[in-house]
Amino acid sequence: MKESRQLCIGLSLTATWNKGKNDSGGGAGMFSNDGFVQLAKMAEQAKLDFVFKPDALFLHADGRGHSSRFASLDPTIMLTSIARETERIGLVTTVSTSFNPPFVVARQLQSLHWLSNGRAGWNIVTSLGGAENFTDAPMPASEERYEKAIEFTDVVQRLWESYPYEVFAGQADCGKEITAIHHNGKYFSVKGPLNLPAHASGTPPLFQAGASLAGRNFAALAADAIFASTPDMASGIELREDLRRRAQAHGRSPDAVRVLPGLYFFLAETRSEAQDMYREAHAHLSLERRFASIESIIGLRLEEMPLDQRVTADMLPDAGQPVRSRTHADLLRRFIVNHKPTVEELLSRPEVIGSAHWVAAGTAEDVMRDMLAWFEAGAMDGVIALPGGSFQSLELFLAELVPMLAEKGLFRKEYTGMTLREHLRMT
Ligand SMILES: Cc1cc2nc3c(=O)[nH]c(=O)nc-3n(C[C@H](O)[C@H](O)[C@H](O)COP(=O)(O)O)c2cc1C
Repeated sequence: MKESRQLCIGLSLTATWNKGKNDSGGGAGMFSNDGFVQLAKMAEQAKLDFVFKPDALFLHADGRGHSSRFASLDPTIMLTSIARETERIGLVTTVSTSFNPPFVVARQLQSLHWLSNGRAGWNIVTSLGGAENFTDAPMPASEERYEKAIEFTDVVQRLWESYPYEVFAGQADCGKEITAIHHNGKYFSVKGPLNLPAHASGTPPLFQAGASLAGRNFAALAADAIFASTPDMASGIELREDLRRRAQAHGRSPDAVRVLPGLYFFLAETRSEAQDMYREAHAHLSLERRFASIESIIGLRLEEMPLDQRVTADMLPDAGQPVRSRTHADLLRRFIVNHKPTVEELLSRPEVIGSAHWVAAGTAEDVMRDMLAWFEAGAMDGVIALPGGSFQSLELFLAELVPMLAEKGLFRKEYTGMTLREHLRMT
C-alpha cells in the first residue's frame, strides 16, 4: 500500500520573532548556547524533522538590515553543540559554496554527521554577498556561483564516498576501498581521500536555496529539499511543478526534491491579536524603506508615483540586468505582470517588506487550514517555520498547530527513525 503523504517541518533558529522590535535582538543571550538548545529541544519535543540555521558571511558596518540579526554564530559549530543536547532532531547547517574550500566543508559536515549520529543536513547556498571578506574580486554573477556550486557539491559528495563506512568498520569482504578522488576541475583541485569515514546511515541530505533558472537546475540535479521563497500559493505550485519536471529530466523521482517554503507566521489566541502582531512587526518599515526595497530588488523607482496608480509590466526595467537575487527579482516581476498592483498594494507585499516568504496570521486553526490548502494544492511538501511577532507564535505553533496536523495524519506523532534521512523518508 502506498504510504500517505506527510508534511516535512523544520524550524529556523534565527530569532525572526524579534524582527521589527527596537531591541538588540536578544543581547549577549543570542550567542549563548542555552537559548538555541532550548529551541531545539522544543522542536524535538514536537517531533519536527529538523532545526535549520541560515547564515551570512558579512555584516554591514553602518547597521543596515538590523545588524544585530545578521550577527550570528557559525551555524555548523552551533549545531554541533546542539547535537550533544538532543537525540533525534535533524540539524541543517548553511554553508556557502562560493568562498570555502570543499575539503574543509566535506570534513566539517561529516564531523557534524558523526557527532549527531547521522542527523546532519547541508543547506547549500551560493551567498548573497560577502565576497569582500575573501577576495578583492567583486561578487561573481549568480550563474557563475551556481557553476561553482555544482562542482563544489560534486567534490564534497565524492569525498564523502572516498572513505567507505564498510572499510572503516573492518568488513573485509565488502569489495570497497579507500580511494583518492583526483579531482581537477575549473574551480577546484582536490586529491582526497577525506580523512574521515562515511557514516553508517549514509550521507547528509542536501538542501538548497535560490530559485533562479540556474538555482532550479542545481536543486533538480542535487538537492533533497529546497528552502523556498513563495509569497503566494500560485508561486508555490509553479515552483514545485517545475522542480518535479526538472528532477525527472535528471533521471530522479519527481518526489526527490521536497519543496519547503519559509512560513512566516503570526499566531495568537485570536485572529485580531495575530493581525495586530503582524502590523506591529512591520510598523518600523517607513515608506522610504519600502520604496528603497523595491528599487534594490528590481531596480524600479516609484517614489514619484501616486499611491493609487497601477504598476504594469511595461514599467519594468530590462529583465536581463544584474540583480542581487534572481529569485526575489523574478517573484516581484511576476507579481507585477500578473496583478498590475497599485503602488500602495506593492508596498505591503512580502517580497517588499520581508524575504518574500509566505505570511500567515491568525489562530493555530486558521494557519493549519492554510497549510492544508497549500499541501492539497501541491504548493509545498512541508515548511520551514519562521515564527513572527512574538515567542508565543512559536509556542502556539509547536503546542497547538503541529499536534493538529498530527491528528489529521499529516505529521508524525512519534519519531520512527533516528537520522535525518529517515525523518525525510529517504531510506
Ligand atoms: C529562501 C532563500 C534563502 C536563502 N538563504 C541564504 C542564506 O542563509 N545564506 C546565504 O548566503 N544565501 C542565502 N540565499 C541566497 C542563495 O543561496 C543565492 O545565492 C541567491 O538566492 C541567488 O541565487 P538565485 O539567482 O537563484 O536567486 C537564500 C536564497 C533564498 C531564495
